[in-house]
Amino acid sequence: MDKVWPVRDLPAGGGKYRASDYLEVGGGMAANAAVAAARLGADCAYWGRAGDDEAGLAMQRQLVDYGVDVKQFRLIAGARSSISAVIVSQDGERMIVNYRGANIPDDTSWLPLQRVMEAAAIHADIRWVEGASAIFAAARSAGIPTVLDGETATEAAFAAVLPWTDHAIFSEPGLRSFAGADSLHNDANRRAALAKARALGCRVAAVTRGSRGTLWLDGEGFHQQASFAVTVVDTTGAGDVFHGAYALAMGEGQSVAQAMRFASAVAALKCTRQGGRAGIPSRAEVDEFLVRQ
Ligand SMILES: Nc1ncnc2c1ncn2[C@@H]1O[C@H](COP(=O)(O)OP(=O)(O)O)[C@@H](O)[C@H]1O
Ligand SMILES: [Mg+2]
Repeated sequence: MDKVWPVRDLPAGGGKYRASDYLEVGGGMAANAAVAAARLGADCAYWGRAGDDEAGLAMQRQLVDYGVDVKQFRLIAGARSSISAVIVSQDGERMIVNYRGANIPDDTSWLPLQRVMEAAAIHADIRWVEGASAIFAAARSAGIPTVLDGETATEAAFAAVLPWTDHAIFSEPGLRSFAGADSLHNDANRRAALAKARALGCRVAAVTRGSRGTLWLDGEGFHQQASFAVTVVDTTGAGDVFHGAYALAMGEGQSVAQAMRFASAVAALKCTRQGGRAGIPSRAEVDEFLVRQ
């Protein structure tokens, strides 16, 4: 849960400052991806955990408002949700203080994994390693494609999840955390880092690079999807939305190249509007945008 205070300039030190507004917006990579998939027309469920506090209830309510099924979004009694204070300046600079929450168990025994059969695709982020591994393993047995948001995580986290992942889509910081600082040096190093991910078992390994496009490595070779040139207003959640759109495309049976193009269009359109969730385009807007390219 992000608690957002827009200010003119970022605070320079201790003192009292005035915000022009105050917003409480749910976030989280997989939750934002779920909102994107739902907004694009998917029948989508979010499985995850938070505390049974005000923030947990608000996050649940917001997902429902976006049409996401939250029956397996568990609010754990006595646990505390992860909350961030976000101070945003007029020129878009952010100061974020995060409280990670407390007493949220990693146990996965409550997940109704047999229901994975009902899904056309599964997406997970890397924050709940046990949960992602469990559902990806179930999806692998059922032949359902899985997509991982490879954000910054430990080596152990990647080692646990990548063997069960079909499509590992890293951000640049995520790829760096997986394969080391050199991995972003040049295309040869990026390719080597993606090959390292594929060696752990995923079919497609990709890295999103903001306005510089997306690279991916699969059995056929190394490919690129350029980012669409748009007037950028707010890039918050671009990666999350890219993943939600990509997972939706996998569920629809699109090819990897088609899915990369589709997800890039959805993320680019999101960047033209304010808000990680509020800025997500509809399917009709994306289809119209793509025919104009
Ligand atoms: N400035 C931009 N212009 C066009 N597309 C963008 C821009 N920033 C991000 N995107 C799209 O969103 C995707 C994810 O953004 P990126 O910044 O790589 O991830 P994250 O938000 O996780 O850091 C990119 O691959 C691209 O398709
Ligand atoms: Mg990201």
